[in-house]
Amino acid sequence: MMRFPRLFSLLATLLLVAPAALAWGPEGHAIVADIAQRHLTPEARKAVLALLAREGKTRLDQVSSWPDEIRKDHPQTGPWHYVDTPLRAPDYSRRRDCPDGNCIVARLPHFLRVLADRNASPQVRLEALKWVVHLVGDIHQPLHNADRHDRGGNDVKLVYFGHPTNLHRIWDTGILEQHTGLRMNPVNYSFDHAATLKVALRMDSRIMAAQRMQWTPAHPLADIDAEAVQWSDHAHRLAQRVAYGDLPARRPDGWWFAYQRKAWPVVRDQLDAAGVRLAAVLNAALR
Ligand code: ADE
Ligand code: ZN
Ligand code: ZN
Repeated sequence: MMRFPRLFSLLATLLLVAPAALAWGPEGHAIVADIAQRHLTPEARKAVLALLAREGKTRLDQVSSWPDEIRKDHPQTGPWHYVDTPLRAPDYSRRRDCPDGNCIVARLPHFLRVLADRNASPQVRLEALKWVVHLVGDIHQPLHNADRHDRGGNDVKLVYFGHPTNLHRIWDTGILEQHTGLRMNPVNYSFDHAATLKVALRMDSRIMAAQRMQWTPAHPLADIDAEAVQWSDHAHRLAQRVAYGDLPARRPDGWWFAYQRKAWPVVRDQLDAAGVRLAAVLNAALR
């Protein structure tokens, strides 16, 4: 009689330890990287290509999810991907939310300064480049900037378009995949780079000039600490207003249609803004 419950609990455990979503899915990070790469200055492009060449790579999207890949072997880097600003708080507080500098709002500026440092070794600067590409993406994901005692929504289980998942994961990947038809392999996180690049190019071509100017910081390197706080605060408000604010308490089948309609424009704008800002910080660090 014990066999069945044991088998059941083994299966349940396997499902529970499936990798928690830590970031935009790989397609989200690739889109941010692809948008940015189109807007590099000649100097920044040359420096980026020289660093990537050390690993035989030519595009930023090829390294944009690297911090997620190494996270398992470097658990101390886990908190660098997000900041647990309490959902009810109006905005980020360094004292409350990032006391040891162990959060995205502090790590992103740190890695940007390493990347800009000509005295750092190429290997160290390449690693910093990978972090910057990744963290500019993550800091634009609303649920990487908010927490309601639920690990940024990871503990909010729900069904989205028929698939059992959670609130965090749909903001990492589900909303984007639903809109674009892109699909990553949920087992090994592989995805179609060519199809993703096409989506990125279409998104980039639709960014309004005024919007692009508004998103571009005047002094991306000198002001990076304040910029990171502003980016995080804006994403936090989107978590309040949309990710949680528009989430119905009762979720009968089909609830997802209304939610998707509100969430997709937010995901799109955040990926666009991240791409524009990533180009700006790389251009400033690699001039
Ligand atoms: N783990 C705890 N809080 C998290 C968040 N906001 N995003 C991702 N992972 C988390
Ligand atoms: Zn991440
Ligand atoms: Zn995530």
